[in-house]
Amino acid sequence: MIKGLNHIAIAVPDLAAAASQYRERLGAVVSEPTEQPEHGVSVVFVELGNSKIELLEPLGENSPIAKFLERNPQGGIHHICLEVDDITAASKKLKSDGVRILGSGEAKMGAHGKPVLFLHPKDFFSTLIELEQK
Ligand code: CO
Repeated sequence: MIKGLNHIAIAVPDLAAAASQYRERLGAVVSEPTEQPEHGVSVVFVELGNSKIELLEPLGENSPIAKFLERNPQGGIHHICLEVDDITAASKKLKSDGVRILGSGEAKMGAHGKPVLFLHPKDFFSTLIELEQK
C-alpha cells in the first residue's frame, strides 16, 4: 500500500528560528515561509531531494498543532506522511482492518493539493501518520 516517504512534519514554536537553524547549522535548502490559513499553519520546506521536512508553526486561532506545542513547547515530530497510489482503496482497506481514520474518515484536500487522510496514532505506536495520494 505505501510507496514512499513524502515528508516528515515538525511543529516548531518559532518558524524563522527553525528555518535558520536548518539553513545555517545543517546547510539545508529551506523555502521561504508560506501561510496556509485553511490548515492553520505557516510552513517552510526543507528540501531533501527525494523527500522533505516541513517545519510547521501555528497560524490563527484553531491551529491543529497548537495543542501539540502546548505539550511540547520546544517543538517535536508531529507526523510522518507516506504516499499511496489510491487513497480511496487505502481508506477502505484500513477501515475494514479496524484502523481508525481521524475526522470524517474520508480523504480531504491536503496542503499540497492532493487528497490526504490521517490515521489514529494509537493504531501506529503513538505516531500520527498522514497518507497522501501520489
Ligand atoms: Co503533512
